Amino acid sequence: MKREIIAGNWKMNCTKAETVELIEKLLPLVGDPGKMEVVICVPFTNIDAARKALRGHKSIALGAQNVHWAPKGAFTGEISAEMLKALKVKYVIIGHSERRQYFGETDQSVNARMKAAVAAGLKVIVCVGETLEEREAGKTREVLLRQTSAAFEGIDKSALKQIVIAYEPVWAIGTGKTATPKEANTAAFVIRKALRKQYGRTPAHAMRVQYGGSMNASNVKELMAMPQIDGGLIGGASLKPAEFAKIVHYTEL
Ligand code: 13P
Repeated sequence: MKREIIAGNWKMNCTKAETVELIEKLLPLVGDPGKMEVVICVPFTNIDAARKALRGHKSIALGAQNVHWAPKGAFTGEISAEMLKALKVKYVIIGHSERRQYFGETDQSVNARMKAAVAAGLKVIVCVGETLEEREAGKTREVLLRQTSAAFEGIDKSALKQIVIAYEPVWAIGTGKTATPKEANTAAFVIRKALRKQYGRTPAHAMRVQYGGSMNASNVKELMAMPQIDGGLIGGASLKPAEFAKIVHYTEL
């Protein structure tokens, strides 16, 4: 049985003080998440404050939203894996569609970031997903296979346990539109197909695939019921403590 994982992507939200406030509200609401793995990914500037606010609580792990591929050097504005490790960050999101869309992230840069993160011992949430245009052109499958294979190029089988994949259809992010459970399930199946080709059936099957895109307390249950979906990557709803806690405890809804 795979351990399910609910991760909040806070994106570019909250000051340091607001981060602490939100975590203080969230902790008692999440309480004991049971077998569920819970992660929050906060902006770089809030990592240290979040770490302090989470100290002594094993229920929520800490993540960042990006990492650079080089260990150090002349890369203005970037953050290395070692810097994140030094702040006790456990997870890092890589290849989010907003990075691909607005900041020139490519399949190659996603792969380079993956390699650096994995080598440093970080856990990775790597995002893949098609745009509306690609879906309407019937290219969803092709895009998912390409993005997944490219992201994992040169990643050793032994590192797979460090990696979670998030299927995030771009058209569902922040739009209130959710992929149907069936669409999400099919996409996760395609992602696993790319992994199967590279690593074989058992390792591909063992990997966790999250769904992301307007996931909330009203749709979490039906999405999580899908056999190919092992978790969620939550944007907007992760900034609402009560809503996020409901998503974590979706089995009780
Ligand atoms: P929303 O949940 O706001 O649609 O965002 C999803 C997302 O991009 C998580 O990474």
